[in-house]
Amino acid sequence: APDITSICKDASAGIRNQEKAIRTRKCCPPSLGKKIKAFQFPTENSVRKRWPAHAGTKKQVDDYRRAIQAMRDLPDDHPHSFVNQAKIHCAYCNGGYTQVDSGFPEIDIQIHNSWLFFPFHRWYLYFYERILGKLINEPNFALPYWKWDEPAGMPIAEMFLTETIDGKPNSLYDVYRNANHIEEKLVDLDYDGKDKDIPDYQQVQCNLATVYRDLVRNGGDTLSFFGGEYVAGDSPVGNSDPSVGSVESGSHTAVHRWVGDPTQPNSEDMGNFYSAGYDPSFYIHHANVDRMWKLWKDLRLPGHVEPTDPDWLNASYVFYDENEDLVRVYNKDCVDLGKLKYNFIENSREVFPWRKSRP
Ligand code: C2O
Repeated sequence: APDITSICKDASAGIRNQEKAIRTRKCCPPSLGKKIKAFQFPTENSVRKRWPAHAGTKKQVDDYRRAIQAMRDLPDDHPHSFVNQAKIHCAYCNGGYTQVDSGFPEIDIQIHNSWLFFPFHRWYLYFYERILGKLINEPNFALPYWKWDEPAGMPIAEMFLTETIDGKPNSLYDVYRNANHIEEKLVDLDYDGKDKDIPDYQQVQCNLATVYRDLVRNGGDTLSFFGGEYVAGDSPVGNSDPSVGSVESGSHTAVHRWVGDPTQPNSEDMGNFYSAGYDPSFYIHHANVDRMWKLWKDLRLPGHVEPTDPDWLNASYVFYDENEDLVRVYNKDCVDLGKLKYNFIENSREVFPWRKSRP
């Protein structure tokens, strides 16, 4: 657990070109010293239904665009501001916090490349979604997800593409993306920095096979899927370590690299942890990564069970909730989506279109 109320330093880990960084490396949250409250499960009866980004209704798209705009309109020092929400990722992933609470003040916290990857991002999006809903006064507001596991969802959704909409800035647009990829191209879930230049039908096959690889072939047991154990006193491992979880090291990282702009000093925005949260597509990509966790579980294959080790269950993070309270949340409390009151709408009857795509 990070001691986020007293210790936070400028981000530097994993940023190769620090002098030229186009986003700030001062990623500490506002109001250090505030009291941390215990998390309470939501009490509403309704369930937020996350929707496929390429198939949203006009109302879903409008609400989403409006909510992100409202977030951008907040003053930067507000805990819910667009910038402060982006900085959460930077602080937890580029050496903002150390393991001071666990007695290792000189060791950085890194929630990537280990079994903290899925639960940390689940909590991050949980609060982000509730904050957006509150900003536009829509109690059922739900995030879209980038459904890159279905052919129709493989290009980035149109709503992200234009710089303006009806003469006003499009809140979903980000200028720091790879211009050669973003329009009309299908994402490459196996992208390693080199374009494959293959026809679409082949890219579709390749992507489906990659999803199969990440969820079934390489993700057959708890740690292969979630990532290796990472406990107090452990130094962060690198992203090429064989222990990194199958989705994290596979389709997840490929999409980051594919969207990020390689002509920027650190492949901003999506190509580096410290800047990824500045691209709205980050959150819809991660909504689908979160959905992969759910689908993996729904496959009900032997071995598809969440970690039960107390070190995993009791690992915690601190976030600002939708009421601007700082709350501490635990991995063990994010396993049951029913309790968190959100779910995913599937837009087709075939939930596992990649099932026959054994690589
Ligand atoms: Cu926290 Cu997709 O990275």
